[in-house]
Amino acid sequence: MNLSFNLNGKAVEVECEAQETLAEVLRLRLNLTGTKVSCEVQVCGACTVLVDGLPVSACTELAYEVRGKNVLTVEGLEKADGTLHPIQQAFIDEFAFQCGYCTPGMIMSAKALLDENPKPTHEEIIHHMDGNICRCTGYVPIVKAIERAASEMAKERRK
Ligand code: FES
Ligand code: FES
Repeated sequence: MNLSFNLNGKAVEVECEAQETLAEVLRLRLNLTGTKVSCEVQVCGACTVLVDGLPVSACTELAYEVRGKNVLTVEGLEKADGTLHPIQQAFIDEFAFQCGYCTPGMIMSAKALLDENPKPTHEEIIHHMDGNICRCTGYVPIVKAIERAASEMAKERRK
């Protein structure tokens, strides 16, 4: 089937099979390997992308379900000049990853949170991120990174 949608701000058209997941189409057909796949059963959050602004597990979302929609992956976060998104930068500054496998999904989940709630409490961050699993960093630096990103994004809005 022919599938058209908006990917990271650009219209894309791709041929795929009806049973292919969004993660398969992103990684294998469009070569966007930032979206990671781990559990494949909507448990770990590694494959999180945003569809029309909402977090979705790309491992279980069938690709055809995004036809005509806006999909944002981790590759779509940095600016055209290569400046990282404040959430990406905050993960670096807070050392919020080790192997990095969970990181794209963490960052996309955090983006969904901060878009909806720019000043989340510590508890709201923990609650929102409970669908994203990290096996090596520990969650303290991840929560700190999201708090730091919220603060940096607030500064940018005040400029
Ligand atoms: S790979 Fe999709 S939730 Fe784990
Ligand atoms: S940094 Fe390794 S799984 Fe999270």
